[in-house]
Amino acid sequence: MNGPGDVLYLSYSDVEKIGMRMSEVIDAVESSFVEKGAGRAEVPPKPGIHTQPDAFIHAMPAYIPRMEAAGMKWVSGYPDNHKLGLPYITGVLVLNDVRTGVPVCIMDCMWVTAMRTAAASAVAAKYLANPDSAELGILGAGVQGRSNLEALSLVLPGLRKVKAYDIRPDTLEAYVSEARPKYPFEVTAASSPMEAVVGSDVIITAGPILKHPDPVIEPSWVKPGALGIPLDFDSYWKDEALQAADHFVTDDVEQLDYYRTVGYFAGTPAAEGDMGDVVAGRIGRRSRDERIICMNLGLAIEDVATAIVLYKRALASGLGRVLPL
Ligand SMILES: NC(=O)c1ccc[n+]([C@@H]2O[C@H](COP(=O)([O-])OP(=O)(O)OC[C@H]3O[C@@H](n4cnc5c(N)ncnc54)[C@H](O)[C@@H]3O)[C@@H](O)[C@H]2O)c1
Repeated sequence: MNGPGDVLYLSYSDVEKIGMRMSEVIDAVESSFVEKGAGRAEVPPKPGIHTQPDAFIHAMPAYIPRMEAAGMKWVSGYPDNHKLGLPYITGVLVLNDVRTGVPVCIMDCMWVTAMRTAAASAVAAKYLANPDSAELGILGAGVQGRSNLEALSLVLPGLRKVKAYDIRPDTLEAYVSEARPKYPFEVTAASSPMEAVVGSDVIITAGPILKHPDPVIEPSWVKPGALGIPLDFDSYWKDEALQAADHFVTDDVEQLDYYRTVGYFAGTPAAEGDMGDVVAGRIGRRSRDERIICMNLGLAIEDVATAIVLYKRALASGLGRVLPL
């Protein structure tokens, strides 16, 4: 147990050992959206610094009173890190005592980021995809490509086929051979972004975020009734494809609008609402043929809602290292 002034440090492997399941992360993230939708969460738009082109380090604070979860993720995304054998996303997450503000836990945030982002996609799919969605397109076969496949497999019971695409053929091959034995549905390698998108009921794009993107997804590639979930901002989807959607939602309207002020999303439509509105039933699919885009930029309430569960379980099982503050 932490004493006053002690902080629990959880490495990536400590966090992984806790064994929180994807279904539990989906529940935590959905609850965080419920709290947001009811106006009971504090989550300011994330500011960032940029030490390299197309790279970011973001500060992501949030407080969810009902979960007694308060903290901040300090997370970076560096698209060229793979050349150095480093992950694209790295960082730490700090949890604070809600009564005193004192930091009580510092954990690696790679596991949380991989899992909660996929969980947010799953919540979006649960509410916004056609329930019999059978084909899933995944563009970007990296960390998110993997965790999103796991999360979507849990909420799309009708899934029959996954078409994955990656710009790097060896990465795609490794992804497909890893996924095939794990899942009961067909996993295929698409030879182009178009092949992964056309005919898909749900489309996840998880390539790099580019400040000056060269997007390829055309409106005509997106079938009626499809749900598109861009995780890489507007880097993969042409503005016309985003504008052609019957509903355009995001995970936080204020955050999307903040990004417009710093040069992103010039051609992206105004969001009709956010995931808080979706889980509260204020916005949603009205017919099987509506095309919906849910552009989740990533929200700190998802992080702290997951991290508080991890912290409590780590304390209960004696995982991690207690450090003096
Ligand atoms: N919205 C969120 O909440 C959130 C959270 C975490 C990560 N992300 C974003 O998700 C994306 C993926 O992150 P990750 O951790 O999986 O990174 P990653 O490096 O593990 O995977 C990215 C993959 O995309 C591939 N790729 C590069 N250019 C491509 C292209 N043009 N077409 C198809 N594939 C391409 C790379 O080869 C790599 O396999 C990043 O843009 C990241 O910023 C978003």
